[in-house]
Amino acid sequence: MKPMRNITGSPVENDDFFDRPRDLARLQRELANGANLLLTAPRRVGKTSLVLRLCELERQAGHSAVFMNVEGCHDELAFAEKLVDGLNEAGLHPEALSRISLAFQKARQALSGMKVNAAGMDMEMGSVDDPDHSTLGRALESIFRRIEAGGKPVLLAIDEMPELLLALGKLEHGTESVSRLLHWLRALRQTYRQQVRWIFLGSIGLDSFVDDRNLRKTINDLTGLSLEALTTEEADVFLTRLGESNHLPLAADQRALIIRRVGWPLPHHLQVVFHALVDAGAKQADAAAVDEAFAQLLRPENLSQFDTWRQRLGEQFGSSDATVAKDALRHLCQYANGRTRSQVLNALMTSRQTADPAVVEEQLARLLLMLLRDGYLLESKRRYTFRSFLLREYWHRREVL
Ligand SMILES: Nc1ncnc2c1ncn2[C@@H]1O[C@H](COP(=O)(O)OP(=O)(O)OP(=O)(O)O)[C@@H](O)[C@H]1O
Ligand SMILES: [Mg+2]
Repeated sequence: MKPMRNITGSPVENDDFFDRPRDLARLQRELANGANLLLTAPRRVGKTSLVLRLCELERQAGHSAVFMNVEGCHDELAFAEKLVDGLNEAGLHPEALSRISLAFQKARQALSGMKVNAAGMDMEMGSVDDPDHSTLGRALESIFRRIEAGGKPVLLAIDEMPELLLALGKLEHGTESVSRLLHWLRALRQTYRQQVRWIFLGSIGLDSFVDDRNLRKTINDLTGLSLEALTTEEADVFLTRLGESNHLPLAADQRALIIRRVGWPLPHHLQVVFHALVDAGAKQADAAAVDEAFAQLLRPENLSQFDTWRQRLGEQFGSSDATVAKDALRHLCQYANGRTRSQVLNALMTSRQTADPAVVEEQLARLLLMLLRDGYLLESKRRYTFRSFLLREYWHRREVL
């Protein structure tokens, strides 16, 4: 077996990818049944790596697969450009694509100077209100027609899709842009459904986003799936492989200790703990070395690798929700054994003396559900605790100490 490197940030591929055959089989089964998928799972669970592998398996099976990260696309045009680039890289219909790329350049020029989002881009298929824009939508559609006619299945994987929608939605005329993009994508899925499969992935649930904007119908054809952290058994094999591959074999006791202390075996957390072990110069991984690795990981200079968990609250929630979520987490990180909902509510009320407790309670209940779903918290016997020991310690150091 080839070594699995200790990678602690970017998506992993090839031998660095710890195989997740059950999860891959689940995705393949859904796709084979003709479903289009929306894979939503907490940050750092390994979504991107998993879907990159899925694409690789598709290619090995003689299909085409296109993987696109749409984070940072600022408007619908940029999204469509990404799509064209992705199709191009997969070598699908290059002549037609290069014609489209030219059309995109023209559209970009026409839009420059104007506020792109105010102008928007008419992605409605077959729309004829505006000759230039409809050409673009139609030109892209022609590629899909060719793919369908070509008889070869194509998987289109769109990473960070909810993040893009959220960002688009915050811009001027954002709701219209989001609605146009979602309707356009839905129409593409419905029309070209023999050979084209879609998988959208990201770490933000879209439920309340689409409901707030009355857009539920634009995604209700997608099959929602999630991805969990590793099981204890998988985490054990994961650590065995990392140790063997990187000249620091871990005994069963140490592996169990790491898994227990991590509390929630995300591949990423196992990788960072192992990295800290190596970094601390451990020659032999005994319990003291594991302790030292955790201490090292939680030193101020290393804390920033967990910052995305805090930043995300601000991106995902409106300011009132973000404040309540942060206050609740600040309270919870101080209790390893967790707190009940009413204890959290009491803590919140001390800094909200004029607020109506019923209103805060309703808001808290809703946010706790989201924090459970997004991997921050666990609930057991009516007590809420941080899901990950590492994350709890991080929170404590950042928000309390
Ligand atoms: N199958 C895997 N094998 C080995 N390491 C993994 C695997 N999956 C994830 N990791 C670890 O987690 C890190 C993040 O992986 P990845 O980018 O795939 O996760 P993600 O869920 O897409 O994260 P984000 O939500 O931040 O985009 C990797 O750098 C690696 O440390
Ligand atoms: Mg990712």
